[in-house]
Formats: sequence, structure tokens, C-alpha cells
Amino acid sequence: MTEIINPSLDLFAEIERLKREQNAVILAHYYQEPDIQDIADVLGDSLALARKAQDTDADVIVLCGVHFMAETAKILNPTKKVVVPDMNAGCSLADSCKPEDLAKLKAENPKHVVVSYVNTTAAVKALSDYCCTSSNATAVVASIPKDKPIIFAPDVNLGRYVQEQTGRDMLLWQGTCVVHETFNEKYVLDLLAKNPRSELIAHPECEPPILRHAHFIGSTKKLLDYTKSSAATVFVVATESGILHAMRKGAPEKTFFEAAPSRDKDPTCGCSTCPYMKLNTLEKVFLCLRDLKPEVVLDEQLRLAALRPIERMVAIG
Ligand code: 13P
Ligand code: SF4
Repeated sequence: MTEIINPSLDLFAEIERLKREQNAVILAHYYQEPDIQDIADVLGDSLALARKAQDTDADVIVLCGVHFMAETAKILNPTKKVVVPDMNAGCSLADSCKPEDLAKLKAENPKHVVVSYVNTTAAVKALSDYCCTSSNATAVVASIPKDKPIIFAPDVNLGRYVQEQTGRDMLLWQGTCVVHETFNEKYVLDLLAKNPRSELIAHPECEPPILRHAHFIGSTKKLLDYTKSSAATVFVVATESGILHAMRKGAPEKTFFEAAPSRDKDPTCGCSTCPYMKLNTLEKVFLCLRDLKPEVVLDEQLRLAALRPIERMVAIG
């Protein structure tokens, strides 16, 4: 059970103090709640967080995201202490791909090169030739010699999107994201019709009925950059709702709608909210900085095996 914290404590000031005392850096993903985004030293998508984890000189990395992101930080940075606000912050994609099942598929398809999305466990990365994120999946697949067939795991929607972009022979794992697979085409089309000058922007983890209406498809960071540079002023955003905080800060004069009913409008839905990302709270960030736990610990042999495909990914860019 999470400790009850004295409500008179100024958590923002306490976190700043502990950060200095512990020589810690806070890395946060765009899907974190606004307060966590605001106290982060680095806010980024999964690729940016992996890169930043590689070159920090802090002793402690507080990774405010989900478990695979913290594990990736530890794989890249074995001498640092990596702590997370909530060890139960998982991911439906990582859960969908068990190492024993991937090992079986590899054995059945020995000529295939294995590309796994960063949303996987270290054990799955260790079985992969390349890692990728949604920012660089197309570039990673395109870098593989053309005569090689590819196993792409675990997100079927990202895999299909990359297959369309590259025309490559790809065997797709059938995993999905609980957030991105739930956007509803009719709801989105109604929202676009009610806001005639709006543009739909979507993460490639969304399903084809959503992606086919999108004006722009991209990873979390690419969507954010697009909202700043585009001439459009109204956006329907088909990805996790946390990103709207950064979008509104980056372009305060523009209007952003979630592509699914928010929880205050439909308590049974909240479909654009990742239940895993939102396990992290400011209170838990304070506790994990104070106590330096829960800590991500990895077997060294597994770490080295998982490092290889991540380093290949980082080298491709
Ligand atoms: P990004 O690679 O865009 O950060 O996405 C991570 C993720 O979990 C998407 O749901
Ligand atoms: Fe995983 Fe989806 Fe949550 Fe991203 S939004 S962490 S892919 S469950």
C-alpha cells in the first residue's frame, strides 16, 4: 500500500530538494500526468528517453513512464540506479509477447530478422536483432537488407503501417495497445464534422479505420512537433491524452480535442487514458526519490543480450 503523505507537504519543492540531494534526474514520458511532466528534467517519447538515459551523469534515474522504458534505461546505463514510481506500470503490448512464444516463432522462421518494438521486456529484446520505437520503426526496417524477411513484434498496427511504408515482407505479431486500439471511427468522424477546420493526427498504434482518416501519422514526439509547425489550429488527437498537456503548452493559441470521450464526459470510457502510465503520481515520484525504490534490477547476461538490438537502433537514429 502506498504511504499516506502529509497533505501540507509541498511536493514540488520536496522533489526539487531530493533531486539535488540524490543527484537524480527525472525522465518523463508525454503520457504522464501534467504535474509529473512539469517537474521532469527531460520530457520525451520512448526514443528520446532511451537516448537521454544513455548520456546522463546523474547517479539516479527516476523513470516516470512504464516498466519497459525504465528497463531500457537500465540496459543502457547499468552503473546507475534506476527507480520507478510504480513497479506495476506495465504495458499491454509488452504483456502480449512472451519470450517463449517469440522464440518458437523464430525457430519456425529461421531466415527472418526479428525487429521488436521497444514496448517489450528485456527477455524479448534479447531475442531480437533490432529494437525500434514508433519514431524510427520505418527507418530501422528500411535499413535491413531487402532480401531478408522480417518478424515484427508485438504491435500489429505499427507493423502494418511500417509494412505499407516500406513494402517489406513482414510477419506481424498480433499484439495491440489497449489505448490506441479503442478509438472509434464514428466518434472521430463526428468530432471532425463538428469542427470542420480540424485535422485528425494519429499514432501509428491506431487501427486502420482511424489511420485512414488521419492528416498526419507519427510517434508521440512527431505529433507534438506537427501541432507546432502545422498551419491548422484545431486538432483531434488520436493518442494517449497526456500528450495534450505538452501540445497546449507548445501551441497555446491552438485547440486540441481527445479522439475519445474523456472520463469526465463518460466515466465508463476514458479510452484515451493509459491505465498503466497513470499509475504514476506525484506522491509516488516523491516516495521513490526519497527511498530510492522500487529499483529496476537486471541480470547482467540478460542485460548484455538486450543491449545489442537497442544499440543497433540508437545507431540508426
Ligand atoms: P512513443 O514511442 O511515441 O513514445 O510511444 C510509446 C508508447 O507507449 C505508445 O503508446
Ligand atoms: Fe503500452 Fe499503450 Fe500504455 Fe503505450 S499507451 S504504454 S503502448 S498500453
